[in-house]
Amino acid sequence: VRHLLGIKELTQSDILHIFETGAQFKEVINRPIKKVPSLRDITVANVFFENSTRTRLSFELAEKRLSADVINFSAASSSVKKGETLLDTVRNILSMKVDMIVMRHSCPGAPHFLSKHIQANIINAGDGTHEHPTQALLDTFSMYQHFDGNLEGKKVVIVGDISHSRVALSNIFALQKLGAEVMVCGPITLIPKYMEALGVKVELDIRKALQWCDVANVLRIQMERQKTKNFPSLREYSTYYGINKALLEELNKEILIMHPGPINRGVELTSDVADSEHSIILDQVENGVATRMAILFLLAQRQE
Ligand code: CP
Repeated sequence: VRHLLGIKELTQSDILHIFETGAQFKEVINRPIKKVPSLRDITVANVFFENSTRTRLSFELAEKRLSADVINFSAASSSVKKGETLLDTVRNILSMKVDMIVMRHSCPGAPHFLSKHIQANIINAGDGTHEHPTQALLDTFSMYQHFDGNLEGKKVVIVGDISHSRVALSNIFALQKLGAEVMVCGPITLIPKYMEALGVKVELDIRKALQWCDVANVLRIQMERQKTKNFPSLREYSTYYGINKALLEELNKEILIMHPGPINRGVELTSDVADSEHSIILDQVENGVATRMAILFLLAQRQE
């Protein structure tokens, strides 16, 4: 395949190959000379129809570390505002001799639609509430390195707004392919009915979920995606599901704390947890660059 549209389509061996390549690039970017010529003469367009800090900057840095030429498109300051369609926008960008498209879009399936109409490699940088494959790869790569290269039997709870999260679905697929057990925990209003059909445990009690897990990957409540009256409110959410130091100390066990960002401090995590020695949140961000370098490098070799 010449695209990365989702984790669902990948095999365990595809994921491990990305991890091996990512580990090599991680070594490279920790050297004084961080740049390699692997994507010289390849042009990548980062096409973002939704806001982003980590994903967009991390892709741009990954592309530059690989010596690609990079252009950045943000829908908010583009002719999309004058009514230009997604397909016209991307076809115009490709006419400028662009080879790869990294795209974030609010509509689930937007990169899949695009893949049927254009020749360039496409990387899904998040499509609505559907998938965020590069986030799941960097999350699982971070866990894989932390647990010395084996996630078999590890217990991972994804906490929070599962219904509106593309990170949750991609993480579930990736973790299951790597042999981890997955649980979701949150208010019943934010957990889709199909979770158990995916082989995922559902727990509504945060204490029981934390007692069960080795890793808690904590998500943001996505108020902007909730179509109806927000329930629970942020205050209710933080009271019943917020993770704080006192709660972790009560449990008297070691839990690895992760978060894809952006964090709503004081809502899903307090600062004394987010910034604690149990948190690998900034390692996730660091690993994002190496993981995205691996994905760009491997896909650039796939034109069929
Ligand atoms: N984790 C993540 O996708 O962050 P951004 O929205 O800032 O890219």
